[in-house]
Amino acid sequence: MNQTIRPYLSRLEDLFSFSPVDAQTVVARFQEDMRRSLDGRASSLQMLPSYVGRPTGAEQGCFLALDLGGTNLRVLAVRLDGRGKAEITAVNRLAVPESVMRGSGEALFDFLAEGVAVFLEEHRLDRKQHRDLAFTFSFPVAQSAVNAGVLLNWTKGFTAAGVAGQNVVALFSDALRRKRIEEVSVTALVNDTVGTLAAKSYADPSCDMGVILGTGTNACYPEKNGRSAQGRFPQSRQEMILNLEWGNFDKLDANACDQALDRITLNPGRQRMEKMVSGMYIGELVRMILLDMTDRGILLEERHKPVLAGEQSVSSEHMSLTARGKDLFAAIGIPDASDRDRDAAARVCRIVSRRSARIVGAALAAVVAWMDASLEQKHTIAIDGALFEKYPGYPENMRSVLEELFARRADRISLCPTSDGSGIGAAIIAAVASSGREQDPAASRKQTRKNR
Ligand code: GLC
Repeated sequence: MNQTIRPYLSRLEDLFSFSPVDAQTVVARFQEDMRRSLDGRASSLQMLPSYVGRPTGAEQGCFLALDLGGTNLRVLAVRLDGRGKAEITAVNRLAVPESVMRGSGEALFDFLAEGVAVFLEEHRLDRKQHRDLAFTFSFPVAQSAVNAGVLLNWTKGFTAAGVAGQNVVALFSDALRRKRIEEVSVTALVNDTVGTLAAKSYADPSCDMGVILGTGTNACYPEKNGRSAQGRFPQSRQEMILNLEWGNFDKLDANACDQALDRITLNPGRQRMEKMVSGMYIGELVRMILLDMTDRGILLEERHKPVLAGEQSVSSEHMSLTARGKDLFAAIGIPDASDRDRDAAARVCRIVSRRSARIVGAALAAVVAWMDASLEQKHTIAIDGALFEKYPGYPENMRSVLEELFARRADRISLCPTSDGSGIGAAIIAAVASSGREQDPAASRKQTRKNR
């Protein structure tokens, strides 16, 4: 590596360092924000009630699930056998076009309802049979019941107009009726983190946290009744799963690259942790750094700039290629980069992804220690998302923070890849909810009338 790249990269290394001391500070700040939120004071963490506790494994039945959380929509049929086993019996997947993500709310919900209509038809489901649907809607929602909740604000590049401030179950139910789908009722509204926790804890009672590390990042955990969640949720149950919306945590030290990225996003000032961690943003951080290096004349050549100038031209999948020894530049349309350039890009990816994983490790530690300060018990953390599953070295970087913070007791934390929280997990939540206790009374009344 030549003389000019070397000092640049070591400065970058410093800028993106996240030391063991930083991790300790973050744990304290994170728990302080958890406490503030539960006490009803201003906080960057939302701790949103889900109106359900963890499943027992005995939940059973057949459910539809609709999963909207990023650039793909999935419609699924799920069967739960009541003995901790679950299977997906049918699934359709379709891309959500950008025009739908950023158009009108009505068009977005019509798109979802159309997805259900096509699914019912393609899989020849009996249109006379009543079906319960679990709606995985992975955005910050203030729920008032397991099947009702108001979107607080969009994240992950969605901006569909007229949805924030509205009950998304009502908007979706209206769209189903517009499509003449009368037999489907939305009985549960589920965040993907909650679905992930449910999917794992259905068969493993030691699971007490659900984490998403994909396009966005977030986590949930079961809060015990009796802790000081004054007035935040009904106290009549043993525990309630709370959605932390940790992507919005804002007590991390953001560097100049983070500030520059935040300025070009659709939601500046918000989702600050998500912008340092998740798949949707870390590729952008790398792209902006590589572009800056090219601007300074220490990487690539002038003619390569247009590729790097295009927003989203580097993704976290591209970054993970470098960890497998592949060429990031070839993957983004620059086939003639020198070995020196490739090595520099691989190092930039390592610096950015390592910080991402270490921040997640610290946030995760904060939540585990909140539940069990001296780590007396075993904790299984259900984790879904490509960063955790497909980025070589990412889980190890998360673990290194747990070991720094908890020493040998870190062994009590298992990080478990868990897929299909948004499908199977959501169906489990619908089954938990079908006891009827957690339902929005208005929605259940409507339902009862219809079923007569
Ligand atoms: C974003 C959403 C959150 C979701 C996460 C992972 O942070 O706000 O609700 O859980 O992405 O999909």
